[in-house]
Amino acid sequence: MLFTPRAAWADAPAPLQAAIADALGTAVTGHTDLRGGMSPGPAAALRLADGRTVFAKAMSVEVRAHNHMLVRRESAVLDVLPESVPAPRRLATVAWGPWIALVTTWAPGAAGGLWTDKSIDAVVDACRTASGHRAPDGLRPVAERIFDFDGWERVVVAGPEDEWEVDYADRAADIAADWARWTAGDALVHRDIRADNTTVDAETGSATLLDWAYAAAGVPWLDLAQLAADIVGTGHCLGGQAATDRAYRLIQTLPTDAARFVVALTGMWRIRAATIQDAVLPTISTWRRERVQALRPLVTRLIIDLTGRP
Ligand SMILES: Nc1ncnc2c1ncn2[C@@H]1O[C@H](COP(=O)(O)OP(=O)(O)O)[C@@H](O)[C@H]1O
Ligand SMILES: [Mg+2]
Repeated sequence: MLFTPRAAWADAPAPLQAAIADALGTAVTGHTDLRGGMSPGPAAALRLADGRTVFAKAMSVEVRAHNHMLVRRESAVLDVLPESVPAPRRLATVAWGPWIALVTTWAPGAAGGLWTDKSIDAVVDACRTASGHRAPDGLRPVAERIFDFDGWERVVVAGPEDEWEVDYADRAADIAADWARWTAGDALVHRDIRADNTTVDAETGSATLLDWAYAAAGVPWLDLAQLAADIVGTGHCLGGQAATDRAYRLIQTLPTDAARFVVALTGMWRIRAATIQDAVLPTISTWRRERVQALRPLVTRLIIDLTGRP
């Protein structure tokens, strides 16, 4: 599990906090800092004078311009999602100086943590509901929200790092090739399904998908393939073998290209771990490397299935 060193909500500038209260039309009476997620900006549960609890996250362009842009983009995405998509509703987006903040409805339940069979089922349902919608106008093709899917190809060029890569990187590169074509479609795709981007309400057993900045138009199975990879990447409460089995089983319910997606996504983490150093998120390379290791048994199995040879 990646815990980014998030700033504390109390450190967000006072004028930004005042602008949030203003936009919500009520005072903020308390807050609880949230951990988890992928950005260094503060995120919190805000308690409001009118009794509501809402979610807020904030980001300064001076800390990390990329995340600042993502908050703005997520705000626009939330505005075009159909009502029936299991997502938080946007309540306010406010800017102050280099800062931007997004406030949404609170999603009940626990976020992050290891996967359980129950939380997998809930998120599978939520993904199917979301992808049952046509992507709203304005969402970009998912190929524009996918990065470094040529990871295995670059591993082949740079030279494999171990025996596994000697045996499999070539085939993995062939499998990932041409991803823009086989991920194209007109379904609504979240594109960033991970345990920390979902909550599951223990009472209702239903999931909410969070963090919509990468939403796009694509093939309807894509979020389920991403979920399968995350079951292994984040882990299952019953251990690594159970995670691999659950993920493999889920992939078997999807078109063959879903297996290609998981292979390609692993190549993305592999090349990013080796090539991108992030001063603001220094632990992210280790997080990516651990994912690649955890995914090896699953990816090996998928490559053998897809190529018909061990
Ligand atoms: N609407 C929400 N309701 C409750 N918790 C949320 C909500 N949105 C996000 N969270 C929690 O806050 C964390 C950070 O939010 P997220 O939108 O994923 O930010 P980041 O862009 O930093 O990943 C999430 O991992 C989740 O635990
Ligand atoms: Mg997130």
